[in-house]
Amino acid sequence: MDRKSENMKTHQKLIIEHYRQANLEETITAAYERAGMNQISHDDTAPLDEFHIRGRAATRELAELAGLKPGMKVLDLGCGVGGPARTLAAEYGCNVTGVDIIEEYIHTAKMLTDRVGVNDKTTFLHRDMMEYPFENETFDAVWTLHTTMNIENKAELFKNIRRALKPEGIFILYEICSGSVSPPVYPVPWASDASINFIVDGEELQKLLKNAGLEKVYWQDVTESSLQWYKKLVSQPKKKTGHKRKPGINLVMGDTARDKMKNVVLNMKENRIRVIQGVVRKKS
Ligand SMILES: C[S@@+](CC[C@H](N)C(=O)[O-])C[C@H]1O[C@@H](n2cnc3c(N)ncnc32)[C@H](O)[C@@H]1O
Repeated sequence: MDRKSENMKTHQKLIIEHYRQANLEETITAAYERAGMNQISHDDTAPLDEFHIRGRAATRELAELAGLKPGMKVLDLGCGVGGPARTLAAEYGCNVTGVDIIEEYIHTAKMLTDRVGVNDKTTFLHRDMMEYPFENETFDAVWTLHTTMNIENKAELFKNIRRALKPEGIFILYEICSGSVSPPVYPVPWASDASINFIVDGEELQKLLKNAGLEKVYWQDVTESSLQWYKKLVSQPKKKTGHKRKPGINLVMGDTARDKMKNVVLNMKENRIRVIQGVVRKKS
């Protein structure tokens, strides 16, 4: 095995160790059963399957910003358990291919999709996005939500994304960037330590996109509204007894979910991380 392949294997191992939750499908199925939810809808899964700041609201905001329309072919890189892909399929009529490196996430994505019933418009594949065979000019849009923080070679990824886009196709990102203070306080949802944290600042990210031939259409720092969202979330009154909570993202994030979320807020407050959303277009 050459050095590049060896590094790749080590990196994959670290990513899998960080995200993988054994028996995730069974855990989630049991949680819905305990909550008395034998039938679930796409709305019911929102607290559980949108693994990024501002949850489903952010997914919708991005889909609107990007102008996603029925029939568009979308590639979702690092799709997690499939919440954003299902939202694009169920609410925007897109045909979505979701790719994720965690096998349990892909199984869970398929199970939830079957249960909420949008499976004719989604395909989920267990793949490392750095090894995904990006075919030329296949997608109207590529999107990635809170994943490039784990990608060291962003230049190569962006080059491949450009190749996969049809002419004038768009790439939508919703990502964590570094702030003026470093390092972030760990654990965070995307890393337990520095070994798989590859955040760069917003300017660097824009430079990498430009160098890959992707032209800026829209760019916004949404750190402030992200902080407001967290404040609102923690100040929500607890549900009265008798009203069971719907299963949430903590099941996907595992035992340290609370610390990870707390550190996201701390890191935003201390300007250790910034949250950005952007849309770029393939230049002809
Ligand atoms: C914070 S989660 C976001 C999941 C999803 N995009 C969402 O917003 O609900 C980051 C995801 O990126 C995936 N990921 C990280 N590195 C990856 C890689 N090299 N290839 C494919 N997926 C990757 C992780 O497995 C995880 O599901």
